[in-house]
Amino acid sequence: MDKETVLNILRRVKYPGYSRDIVSFGLVREIAAGGGKTEVALALSSASPEVPERLREEVLAALREAGAPAPAVTVENAPPARATGGTGAGNTAGGTPQGGRELPPARRPDGVRRVIAVASGKGGVGKSTLAVNLACALARRGLRVGLLDCDLHGPSVPRMTGLEGRLAFDGERMVPHERFGVRVMSIGFLVDEETPLIWRGPMITSAIRQLAFDVAWGELDALLVDLPPGTGDAPLSLAQMVALDGALIVTTPQPAAAAVALRGAALFPKVGVPVLGVVENMSWLELPADGGRATPFGAGGGAAVASALGAPLLGQVPLDERVRAGGDDGEPVAVAAPESTAGAAFAAIAGALAAKIDLAPA
Ligand SMILES: Nc1ncnc2c1ncn2[C@@H]1O[C@H](COP(=O)(O)OP(=O)(O)O)[C@@H](O)[C@H]1O
Ligand SMILES: [Mg+2]
Repeated sequence: MDKETVLNILRRVKYPGYSRDIVSFGLVREIAAGGGKTEVALALSSASPEVPERLREEVLAALREAGAPAPAVTVENAPPARATGGTGAGNTAGGTPQGGRELPPARRPDGVRRVIAVASGKGGVGKSTLAVNLACALARRGLRVGLLDCDLHGPSVPRMTGLEGRLAFDGERMVPHERFGVRVMSIGFLVDEETPLIWRGPMITSAIRQLAFDVAWGELDALLVDLPPGTGDAPLSLAQMVALDGALIVTTPQPAAAAVALRGAALFPKVGVPVLGVVENMSWLELPADGGRATPFGAGGGAAVASALGAPLLGQVPLDERVRAGGDDGEPVAVAAPESTAGAAFAAIAGALAAKIDLAPA
């Protein structure tokens, strides 16, 4: 019996409580068939302890019924994590039928311990800047870090990390680019910058699925996910597919910006993902004359968003030419000038995040 035949048998097995099958849910990790044996490995992220055993039995029964020789089934279950000090119990969005559609359980990519989204309802506040610099700062702390760019319309991570070009393929999956000790995946590596892309709901879902799961991440202590602004399809698709351990919300100090930033945060508590903290960006501008601070964008936005979400303000990052230039030149300030005020701010945020959620290697 060959792999394809086994896969077709597995297509008849439904996920417990759902009408969709385990193959379309993406739970089949490996099939070894032929030579008188049939081995199936499943991987899932279920909070319910009965689900793995029940699935194992149902798959075994289906294989036996179809006459598969010497069937053996293993099920690896990595339940959604609880964030220490967080408010939620990990992402349950995937298991929750929404809008009448039944969804597969969310899971983490293979080898990835923690997944943290960087989000805001507002564009241009520095989500990508934070995601890139935080990834670099975490790598400088000795952690194995990945960065997933989920901004399909305007991927800025390639430029900000100075990475470009085609991805290698290891025969099965895409191999992420790597720089500053950070493994990076972006739609920008797959399509050229000039090609205008029109993404619709299902395409967004499938692009994010591939960028998250069809990638040889290797072992990662933390995977940061850079989201596009707003409350569109991408954050929800991500939360439904990827078991998120928490979200960071970015805002600027302006009250008007804070209100918009906050809207982008509303999704996370709804799907059981804790907001781990708020980062205020462009908080002040250091005056070259006397080292005093100007506050061109006002003050208080970060604190306001943090208090509205019941989450801590993890840090404030100054408005600094070096942050902008670091992004444009692909030399993030967290690496190029870690001692600068902005560089130190990113390092401190990395420390606060690591203290808030267990990011240490297993
Ligand atoms: N603290 C900062 N100081 C100076 N420029 C910044 C700072 N944060 C972000 N920028 C710049 O602002 C622009 C928007 O930031 P970006 O991270 O792309 O925002 P978002 O991802 O939220 O849309 C970029 O050009 C970036 O370099
Ligand atoms: Mg961005």
